[in-house]
Amino acid sequence: MKFKTIPAHIAVIMDGNGRWAEAKGKKRSEGHREGAKAIDRLLDVALHFEIKNVSLYAFSTENWKRPLSEIQAIFNLLIEFIDTRLDDIHEKGIRIHHSGNRSKLSNKVLQKIDRAMELTKKNKRLVANFCLNYGGQEEILQSFSKLMSDRKEKKIPLDKAVSPKEFQKYLYTHPLPPVDLLIRTAGEQRVSNFLLWQIAYAEFFFTNTLWPDYGERDLEEALHFFESRKRKFGGLS
Ligand code: FPP
Repeated sequence: MKFKTIPAHIAVIMDGNGRWAEAKGKKRSEGHREGAKAIDRLLDVALHFEIKNVSLYAFSTENWKRPLSEIQAIFNLLIEFIDTRLDDIHEKGIRIHHSGNRSKLSNKVLQKIDRAMELTKKNKRLVANFCLNYGGQEEILQSFSKLMSDRKEKKIPLDKAVSPKEFQKYLYTHPLPPVDLLIRTAGEQRVSNFLLWQIAYAEFFFTNTLWPDYGERDLEEALHFFESRKRKFGGLS
């Protein structure tokens, strides 16, 4: 194995699809199409390095502000991705997980995601967590509401302190572990409402590579960076 330590969970903000397309004089949707291919590459490299969990920021709660044609292009790509890649993903031992609010997703998208999750639910090599209609703040609010309504139902006092362990069970990402390494492509250095609870002690790696160009070398660079970090989790050593 090339690396001494491998993150258990990497989260990727796949930025730069639009810039990639514009630089080539193509439509933005072509950038997203190439971005879907980069997801395929990333999952293969993650399997190679035995990374167990990969979260992908595919569509945020804020992305609805984009033109309808672009929104449709992204969801059509997701549907195409599941239709064409699911059998292969399943054979490779990848489990599909969805994180995000289901209420605004179309029935067609939900059916595809549910089928993918059902088919792959016993797979153990890698969890590919597709974050769709996902927002970190929304996730925290939803989780808290759900926890409180469960308490009400079970007649547990509502003012009893909530522990992180109890709360985490309600997150969209449950049962994935906390994020160890957050990668953002395309030069921006912000978190954009991604996995706010889960990145509490994550290392952050930013690269100028545009997402459609992302490949094995790029992930290796991020893993080298991760290996060099001394993680203290608030302690002294
Ligand atoms: C950010 O780049 C990218 C997105 C908002 C969408 C990500 C979607 C994919 C990678 C493809 C979807 C396919 C599947 C299989 C889920 P941007 O458009 O904001 O780029 P820019 O900042 O250069 O404009």
